[in-house]
Amino acid sequence: MKFETPLLDQLEQGPWPSVVSDIKQEAAHRAANPNGLDYQIPQDCCEDLLGLLELSYKDMETHWKHGGIVGVFGYGGGVIGRYCDQPEMFPGVAHFHTIRVAQPSGKFYSTKFLRQLCDIWDLRGSGLTNMHGSTGDIVLIGTTTPQLEEIFYQLTHEMNNDLGGSGSNLRTPAACMGMSRCEYACYNTQDVCYQLTEDYQDELHRPAFPYKFKFKFDGCPNGCVCAMARSDFAVVGTWRDDIKIDQDAVKAYVGGEFVPNAGAHSGRDWGKFDIQAEVIDRCPTHCMSWDGQKLTIDNANCVRCMHCIDTMPRALHIGDDRGASVLCGAKAPVVDGAQMGSLLVPFVKVEQPYDELKEIIENIWDWWIEEGKNRERLGELMKRASFQKLLEVTNTEAEAFHVKEPRANPYIFFKEDEVPGGFKRDLADYRSRHQR
Ligand code: HEM
Ligand code: SF4
Ligand code: SF4
Repeated sequence: MKFETPLLDQLEQGPWPSVVSDIKQEAAHRAANPNGLDYQIPQDCCEDLLGLLELSYKDMETHWKHGGIVGVFGYGGGVIGRYCDQPEMFPGVAHFHTIRVAQPSGKFYSTKFLRQLCDIWDLRGSGLTNMHGSTGDIVLIGTTTPQLEEIFYQLTHEMNNDLGGSGSNLRTPAACMGMSRCEYACYNTQDVCYQLTEDYQDELHRPAFPYKFKFKFDGCPNGCVCAMARSDFAVVGTWRDDIKIDQDAVKAYVGGEFVPNAGAHSGRDWGKFDIQAEVIDRCPTHCMSWDGQKLTIDNANCVRCMHCIDTMPRALHIGDDRGASVLCGAKAPVVDGAQMGSLLVPFVKVEQPYDELKEIIENIWDWWIEEGKNRERLGELMKRASFQKLLEVTNTEAEAFHVKEPRANPYIFFKEDEVPGGFKRDLADYRSRHQR
C-alpha cells in the first residue's frame, strides 16, 4: 500500500466484515488490473482514500472541502460533489464525487445487472460503493467530474437506469419488500413506489421545492423501511375489517408445535409459549381473549399494532379490506427538532393508478411549495402554519384520530364566519352599555 495506515489496520481485526480489508482488496485489484482496463480515474484512488482516512483518524477531523456542485446536464441533482483538502498529498481523491443511482423497489437484483454496473464503475470510478444509501439509492463513491456525463450516458443507454435524487426536490422513494416476500403486506409497496417514482421524475431530477421531500412505503405498521421516521410522506399499510384467525393454528402454538414469533427468540430459553402472557396481556387495547380453546378478538377495538400477528404469524392474518394510512412531516432535528409522521389520512385504498394517493401528495405540494420558507421541511411548515392548515389544503375533515390527545391550552383560533356577529365591532356600541 502507498501509505502506512496503523490506525485503520486495527479495524481489520474482529469478526465483522472489515471495510478496511475490503478497500485494501479493491486497491490491490486495481493495482494488478487483471482485466487490462484503461482506468479513467487514478488507479491508486483507493490507496489515497485510505491514506486520507488515516490522516482523519489521526487528526480527528474531516479532510473533505466544504460543499461541491457538480452534476449532469438536464438534471439539478443526483451527484454529490466532493474535493479533498490535501490534494497534493492525496491526488487520487482530489475529486471524489458520489453518484446516486436509482435502485429497484425492494432492492431485488439479478447478477447480470450488478455485473454491468460494476463494469461501468470499475472503469470510470473508484470501484467503491455504498449498498445502499439510507434513502435507498445505489451509491457509487468516488469519481472525477469529467466522468460524470460518461457514467450517466452508459447508465441510461446501456443499463436503462437513471440517477437518484439530491437537493431541494423529491428524493429517491423507497419501499419495504412488501408483497414480494411478506405475508403482512397490505398493499403492493414495490409497485406504488415504482409508479410514483416514475410519475414524479421531473420533481425528482429538477429541484423545484423549498427543501427536500421524501416518500417511503411500508406494507404494514411494522415499518421495515421506517417510513414514519424517515419520510415527509409516509404510506403505511393497514386493513379495516377483521383479523383472520385460524383456531387450529392457534392451538398448534399453544401446544408447542408452532414456535412463537417464527422462532425469533430461539437464541434464549424463554420457557414454553404462554399465549395469555405473550399475546393477550400484551395487546395494547386489551381487545383479545383466550378461553383455553378459542381465541377471540374484538376488532372494533384493535389498533392494528401487529403484535399478535407478529407473534403467531401462522394463526393470525391481516384482514381482506386493505389499504394504507398516510402520515406527514417526519424529519431529523435541524432546525426546530426531530419529528415523526403525524396521521393525516387513516385509510386510503392503494390501487393502481394510485390517484387517491397522488391527489393527497399534489395538494400538499401545492401548499408547501407556495407557503414553505426557504429550507423549511413539510413538518416545520405544519408546525408554523398549523395542522389545521394541512387538513384544509388536503380537503380533510378534522377527526378524533388526527390527535393523540386534544390541546390543553385555550389559545383557540376561530374563523370569523364561525363567530356570530363576526370580528368587526364598534367600540361606541360597547361603550353605550359599558361606561368608561
Ligand atoms: C370579570 C373580570 C375579569 C375577567 C373576566 C378577566 C379575564 C382575564 C383573562 C381571560 C385573562 C387572560 C388569561 C390568560 O392570558 O391566560 C386575564 C389576564 C389578566 N387579568 Fe383579568 N380578568 C378580569 C378582571 C381583572 C382585574 C379586575 C384585573 C386587575 C385589576 C385583572 C388583571 C389581569 C392581569 C394582570 C392579567 C394577566 C395578563 C397577562 O398574563 O398577560 N383582571 N384576565
Ligand atoms: S413493513 Fe410490514 S409488509 Fe413490509 S416487509 Fe415489513 S412486515 Fe412486511
Ligand atoms: S393487532 Fe395489536 S391491537 Fe390488534 S388485536 Fe393484535 S395485539 Fe391487539
